[in-house]
Formats: sequence, structure tokens, C-alpha cells
Amino acid sequence: MSGDLGTAIVTGAGSGIGHATALRLSRDGYRIAALDLDGEAAERTAEAIRSAGGQASAHAVDVCDATAMAAVVEQVCDAHGAPHALINNAGIGVAGTVIDTDPADWDRVLAVNLTAVYHACRIVLPLMLARNAGVIVNVGSISGEVVGVRERAVYCASKAGVVGLTRSIAADFADCGIRANAICPGPVRTPWVEKMAATTPDPAATLRALEQRKMGTAEDIAAGIAFLASPAAAYVNGAAFVMDGGLTAA
Ligand SMILES: NC(=O)c1ccc[n+]([C@@H]2O[C@H](COP(=O)([O-])OP(=O)(O)OC[C@H]3O[C@@H](n4cnc5c(N)ncnc54)[C@H](O)[C@@H]3O)[C@@H](O)[C@H]2O)c1
Repeated sequence: MSGDLGTAIVTGAGSGIGHATALRLSRDGYRIAALDLDGEAAERTAEAIRSAGGQASAHAVDVCDATAMAAVVEQVCDAHGAPHALINNAGIGVAGTVIDTDPADWDRVLAVNLTAVYHACRIVLPLMLARNAGVIVNVGSISGEVVGVRERAVYCASKAGVVGLTRSIAADFADCGIRANAICPGPVRTPWVEKMAATTPDPAATLRALEQRKMGTAEDIAAGIAFLASPAAAYVNGAAFVMDGGLTAA
């Protein structure tokens, strides 16, 4: 472990990018609060951190439930101290054009991917402002921010919203010692992508096609998040940091 960077809250820490990020931030010197809807998965992440010598707690919570989130943040403050870093990573996707996206799916995806980010920032920012220090990293996507993606209407809308919200937080609080950045990954091999591939006629071929278009690892994205959360990124604020192996550069 490196020096003590304080407490980091990571949402969606039970799987994929969130799991890798929690482990990476712990190695970098953060105490970790691993939040996930799936409490057992969050506990597995916290246990992996503890067995590597880090400090971590697990919290089963739906990020859409603002009251439950406020209670979890209080528990985190008691266990580890007020958060220095907030990583809003939990996310879901639903396939569909704007015509065939069901209104209930529209509401659910926006609730998890965007409104929950607002709730978490609204709860945690006052704690950061009290100490004039804090970093927020919101997980966006190239989908919506950089490119449109077929049959991902609500997902793209939610992730474009995440970037807009992140920039507005950066603008509002830059003078108060707070930085807020979004990370915009391209395709990343996580349980999510594997589940998505499993719904296609030839899952192995789907994964091969994605690999050919440069698919990142959860650890790649965790490294980007760790940079944005670190003092090395002191001059990075309000950025939409694209990590896609050059996929959208062409
Ligand atoms: N995998 C990719 O290709 C990719 C690309 C770009 C962006 N992203 C974004 O990265 C983030 C993580 O994706 P991943 O691929 O690691 O997914 P994943 O499905 O492997 O992990 C997501 C985690 O979030 C948790 N979660 C979902 N809804 C929740 C809720 N309401 N409250 C609390 N936890 C909840 C899940 O239980 C799961 O553990 C998401 O925001 C996703 O949109 C992923």
C-alpha cells in the first residue's frame, strides 16, 4: 500500500470495473467503501482488499435509494472517516431504439445511471466542501458522449447526462478544492459484456469481434480512474476522459 489518501466510496464495486477500481484504489492508499446492490459481491471485493492488507467495508445498497445512500455514507464516515473520493460507477444498460424502449426501462436506466449520481454527489459534496478537498470520478461511456450507438437510446442519453452533470459540478466547485471528472470507456471485458454477448446467436464470435475492435480490461479503466482520483491529476477538472484504445479516434 502507498501513503494514506483517505476514504474512497466506489459504487458498483462488486463486479467488473468497480471491483478492479476498488482493488486499485486500495493499492494506491485509499480506504475503500465498496457499495453494490449485490451485497455478497461487495463483500467479496472488500474481503479481497482486506486479504491483500488494505482497509475496506462492504455495503449492500441500491444507489437509486437516496435515503439508504445517505445512511451508508454516514456508516462510511464512522468506519473510515469522511470520503475524499467518490467513484460513481454503478450502471445498467437496456437495448432499444427510442421507439422500442419501454418507458419503465427509460426511467430505470436514468435512475441508476444518472439520477443516482446526482443523489450521491448531493450527499457527499457537503462533506468534501467542509474540508475544501475531494475528488469525484463519474463513469460515463463513449456511448452518448462521443458517439451514438445503435439500439442504446436510453443508455446513450444517460451517459451524455453524466458528462454534463460532471462538468457542471467541476464548474461550480473548482474554487473549493473539489475536482470532478468523467471517464468514458470504450468496450471493456467485464461480466456485463459477457452477459450481453451470451444473448447473441454466437457469443464467442461476438466477443472476438469486440476484441478485434480493441476491448479494454477492467484494470485498464481502473488505472484511468485511479489517475483522475490521484494528486497527479490536480490540474484535471471537468474532463471527459476517453479510454477506448483509439476506437473513436478514427
Ligand atoms: N463494460 C463496458 O464495456 C463499459 C463501457 C463503458 C462504460 N461502462 C460503464 O462502467 C460501469 C461498470 O460497468 P461494468 O461493465 O463493470 O458492469 P458490471 O455489470 O460488471 O458491474 C456493475 C455493478 O453495478 C452494480 N449495480 C447495478 N445497479 C446497481 C444499483 N442500482 N445500485 C448499486 N449497484 C448497482 C451491479 O450489481 C454490478 O456489481 C457502468 O456504469 C457502465 O455503464 C462499461
